[in-house]
Amino acid sequence: MQSVVVTNLWKKFGKTPAVKGISFAAERGEILGLLGPNGAGKTTTIHMLLGLTSHDEGSISILGLDMPKNRYEVLQRVNFASAYVSLPGNLTIDESLYVYAKLYNVENPKHRAREVLAELEVDLPGRSLIGTLSAGQKTRLNICKALLNRPEVLFLDEPTASLDPDIAMKVREILKKLRKNYGTTIIYTSHYMQEVEELCDRAIFLARGSIVATGTPTEIRERSKLKSLDEVFVTIARDGELRDSNDKEER
Ligand SMILES: Nc1ncnc2c1ncn2[C@@H]1O[C@H](COP(=O)(O)OP(=O)(O)O)[C@@H](O)[C@H]1O
Ligand SMILES: [Mg+2]
Repeated sequence: MQSVVVTNLWKKFGKTPAVKGISFAAERGEILGLLGPNGAGKTTTIHMLLGLTSHDEGSISILGLDMPKNRYEVLQRVNFASAYVSLPGNLTIDESLYVYAKLYNVENPKHRAREVLAELEVDLPGRSLIGTLSAGQKTRLNICKALLNRPEVLFLDEPTASLDPDIAMKVREILKKLRKNYGTTIIYTSHYMQEVEELCDRAIFLARGSIVATGTPTEIRERSKLKSLDEVFVTIARDGELRDSNDKEER
């Protein structure tokens, strides 16, 4: 079953197109990487999927429901975390999880707030103020917050940005656990190609708003005839395409 289906999606800011007619799908339980250099259109795409940004053309179906037509119902069944969205610094971890659990209207919010940390074996000091946490702790809290409503689809925008390798590994473990235990579909962006190779079932490379490569990380690398996914990334960032590949029919 497909959790997310995107067809010919366009977005312009003024006259400048940020996303140019992209189409892709994510299967249930799949971890899909949305990759590409800065300005490629990754965040804009995720924002359109969440109904935070309107799209100009094309269609989005999430869990079989049209977005944004069924925005209310979809948003109850998905969630989002970003390295660039901060939680209120003057609340403790426990307080903030409780407040969000209430906002999401989940049953027994107090219990759920505690449960979500235990479920993912996330070790965070519940009584500490968010303002005093490290970047790694904030990131993990953000992901826990995004799980309060048991989302069927989770969107993550650079969840491991600016984390040290140890914490980034912990975040990857959380994501793997989520998929394994709950079959959560995860669409996420990252600039760390090694992480993408470890985590993603499939990846989509965007450049200047268009899809320039799709496939499993191994397929993309082999087709490109480059030595590593890092080289694929750098080539796409430099040329805006993957010239030596045979993936033209997929564009
Ligand atoms: N709110 C906005 N207003 C105008 N231009 C925007 C806005 N958001 C994004 N853009 C432009 O859209 C393009 C894609 O940006 P973005 O989706 O943030 O890329 P990425 O997340 O891949 O780095 C960029 O050229 C960016 O400047
Ligand atoms: Mg971005």
